[in-house]
Amino acid sequence: MDLERLIDEARAVSEKAHAPYSGFQVGAALLAEDGSVHVGCNVENASYGLTVCAERSAVASAIAQGVKSFRAVAIVTNGERPVGPCGACRQVLAEFASDLIVVSEAGGLRKQWTLGELLPSPFEGLPEWPGGQHD
Ligand code: THU
Repeated sequence: MDLERLIDEARAVSEKAHAPYSGFQVGAALLAEDGSVHVGCNVENASYGLTVCAERSAVASAIAQGVKSFRAVAIVTNGERPVGPCGACRQVLAEFASDLIVVSEAGGLRKQWTLGELLPSPFEGLPEWPGGQHD
């Protein structure tokens, strides 16, 4: 699984987003250390604050499959330019990998970072915090 295919998976799932309020469709595809791919899209709600981002949706899907070590996440939106994950999603992703590759595509443009660049100092208050480990 290369990044091109991971981006294709994110693009495909972005089309399933439930985004009637913002019109901003987001798809995320997580590549796990074992090679499996776990996708998610944003799920908006009439009570706006209940919206779930695509990235956290993908994490929840992977965890439900028993997968918690990741190499990369691809994000595709229907916006004009690539966006990084929101702050909340950065923290959630950091729970599982600080050296995660984050690639984002929109409007024919692409950006790439590591999660450590996007969130250099995640909250890691509890002694059992597993972020950055690859078990
Ligand atoms: N959204 C995501 O899915 N991921 C992010 O990292 C930021 C924002 C969604 C939430 C909402 O449905 C829409 O994009 C507009 O904020």
